[in-house]
Amino acid sequence: GTVVLAYSGGLDTSCILVWLKEQGYDIIAYLANIGQNENFEEARKKALALGARKVYIEDVSREFVEEFIWPAVQANALYEDRYLLGTSLARPCIARKQVEIARKEGAQFVSHGATGKGNDQVRFELTCYALWPQIKIIAPWRMPEFYNRFRGRNDLMDYAKKHGIPVPVTPKSPWSMDENLMHISYEAGILENPKNQAPPGLYTKTKDPATSPDTPDILEIEFRKGVPVKVTNTKDGATHQSSLELFVYLNEIAGKHGVGRIDIVENRFIGMKSRGIYETPAGTILYHAHLDIEAFTMDREVRKIKQGLALKFSELVYNGFWYSPECDYVRHCISKSQEMVEGKVRVSAFKGQVYILGRESPRSLYNEELVSMNVQGDYEPSDATGFININSLRLKEYHRLQSKVAAK
Ligand code: ARG
Ligand code: SIN
Repeated sequence: GTVVLAYSGGLDTSCILVWLKEQGYDIIAYLANIGQNENFEEARKKALALGARKVYIEDVSREFVEEFIWPAVQANALYEDRYLLGTSLARPCIARKQVEIARKEGAQFVSHGATGKGNDQVRFELTCYALWPQIKIIAPWRMPEFYNRFRGRNDLMDYAKKHGIPVPVTPKSPWSMDENLMHISYEAGILENPKNQAPPGLYTKTKDPATSPDTPDILEIEFRKGVPVKVTNTKDGATHQSSLELFVYLNEIAGKHGVGRIDIVENRFIGMKSRGIYETPAGTILYHAHLDIEAFTMDREVRKIKQGLALKFSELVYNGFWYSPECDYVRHCISKSQEMVEGKVRVSAFKGQVYILGRESPRSLYNEELVSMNVQGDYEPSDATGFININSLRLKEYHRLQSKVAAK
C-alpha cells in the first residue's frame, strides 16, 4: 500500500521512512512548511534519496495564521493559564493537508513520528480520523516491532549508518524542539528534570530580556472582528496589513525585546505531567492587545460567557479535538462574540514585557461622560443608595446567622 508520511527531515522520520519501505510500503513524504526554520529543498532531496517515490512540500503558513491562530487570538486561548497552544494549533493544520494529499494520491495509509507518550499522536490521529474515517494510521513509535528495535538514539544512528541515511553532523541539542510560525517548544532531555534551568543558549526566537534594547518599540495594533488587520510601528511608521506578514513582523519585534518566554509544567491529555519551555513572541503581544480591545468593546455579561467558552476551546485544542462538533460549536460562538471587537491598541514591547499604553474604538462601550468624576452624565447618584441597600440584604442575613451560630 501507499503511505503518506509526515516527514521532518530529521533522524527519526528518516529512519521511519526507510523502515516503512523495508516493510514493503510505497512512500510519499510530506513536509509542511508551517513557518519553521528549515532547509526544505535539502529535506526534499534527502527524502527522495532515501526512497520516497514522491515528496510534497506544502506551505500552510498562511492558512495556519488565518484559520488556526486567529481563532485562538479571538478566544484569548490559554491552556492551564499559561500556554498559548503553539504546537496544539499547528497539528490539525498539518494533518489536514496530509489527509488531502492521501486522498489525492489514493493512499490508504498515513504515518507520523510522534511518540506514544505525547499529545501530538492524539492530535494527528483525531484529525485524520475526523477528516477521513477510513484512513489507516501507522504510528511506528507505538509498534513493538519498531520500538523494540530502536530503543534509543544510538539504535537510530546505527540503522542510519547501515542504510545510507545521512546522520546529523551538528551534535543534537540535549532537548527536543518543535517549531512553527507561532512558537517553538523545548522538552525532554536535560529539561526533563523540572528543577534544571534552561541554558541561555536554548532560546532561538527571543532575545534575553536582560540584554534586549534599552528603548521600547511602540506598536499600534488595529483589530476588526477580533482579528488584527494592521500593525504600525510608531517609531518608523512601518505598517503591515496582511495576516502572515503582520504576524511575522510581530514575531520580529517581540523577539527583539525578549517577549513571550515561559517555562511551565503542564498536564498532557494522556495523563502525565511534562515540563516545557516555549517562546511565543507575536502570540504574546496579540494576546495582551486583544484582551484589551475586547474589554473595551464587549458587554460585561457576554464577556463572562465567552471566557468560559474560551477555557473549553483551549482544552479542546490542546487535547486534539479541533475537528469535533463541540469545538466547531464553541468556535462559532466565540466568533459571534467578536463582531464588535474593533479598534486600535497601542502597546510597548520592552524587556520581555508587553505594556498597554492606550486604546481607541468606534465600537467602544466606554462612556467617558458616564464614568467621569467631574460631570454627572445620564446617571442619578442617589439611585446607587437603593442598589447597595438591596445588595446588602443577603449579606446582612448571612452575618446575622453567623453571629447566632457563634453565640451557641
Ligand atoms: N507540550 C506541548 C504541547 O503538547 C508541545 C509539544 C511539542 N511537541 C513535540 N513533538 N516536541 O502542545
Ligand atoms: C511527542 O510525543 O511527539 C512529543 C510530546 C507530545 O506530543 O506531547
